[in-house]
Amino acid sequence: MTQNLIVPGEFSNPNLEVLLSAATIEQRVREMGAQITRDYAGHHPSLVCVLKGAATFMSDLMRAIDLNLTVDYIAVSSYGKGTTSSGEVKIQKDLDGPLEGRDLILVEDILDTGLTLSFLLKTFRNRGAASIRIATLLNKPERRRVPVEADYIGFDVPDKFVVGYGLDYDERYRNLPFIGVLKATA
Ligand code: IMP
Ligand code: MG
Repeated sequence: MTQNLIVPGEFSNPNLEVLLSAATIEQRVREMGAQITRDYAGHHPSLVCVLKGAATFMSDLMRAIDLNLTVDYIAVSSYGKGTTSSGEVKIQKDLDGPLEGRDLILVEDILDTGLTLSFLLKTFRNRGAASIRIATLLNKPERRRVPVEADYIGFDVPDKFVVGYGLDYDERYRNLPFIGVLKATA
C-alpha cells in the first residue's frame, strides 16, 4: 500500500490540499485496469507512457492489466517551468520499438489543453499504428483547446493546477502518493 511507504507528516505542506487520496487513486486505477483487460481480451496492446508525469500511473496501471502486453516510453515537452502551456510539443525521447500494426494505449497523467495528445495521436497514426486509445488518470475538460477525448478517464478534475502521483510543479511534488492542489501563494 503506497500510503504506508512514507512517514505521516513527511509531506505536510501548507500550500497543498489533498484532492485524491492514495487509496482513492489505487481503487480507480484497479478499475481502469480491469476495464482495459476486458476491452482488449485476446489482443496484445502496447502501453505507451508519456514521460515523466505518467510514469507513476503507468507502473500501477500495467500491473492492474491481465494481458500479454508490451510497454514503451516517450518523453515530450509542451510546458516550461510554469503552469501554463506554451502550446508547442516536442519529442525529447522517442519510443524504442516500432509500432506498425500495434494496438496502442497512450497512458497520460492529465489531459489538459489536449495539445500533447493530439500531437501524439497524429504522430502515431502516421507511423502506422493499427489502433490508438487514450488512458488518462486525470481530465480537465474545461481547459481543452483542441478536441481530444480519452477512452479511459480516472477522474475529471476542476481547472486547478494539481501535483503528486507523478505530476509536477517545476519538477517537484512528483513523489507525493496522493494528488493535491497547489494553493495560490500570495
Ligand atoms: P496538454 O497538452 O495541455 O493536454 O497537457 C498535458 C500535460 O501538461 C500533462 O501531461 C502534464 O505534464 C501537464 N499538465 C497539465 N495540467 C497540469 C496540472 O494541473 N499539473 C501538472 N501538470 C499538468
Ligand atoms: Mg505529462
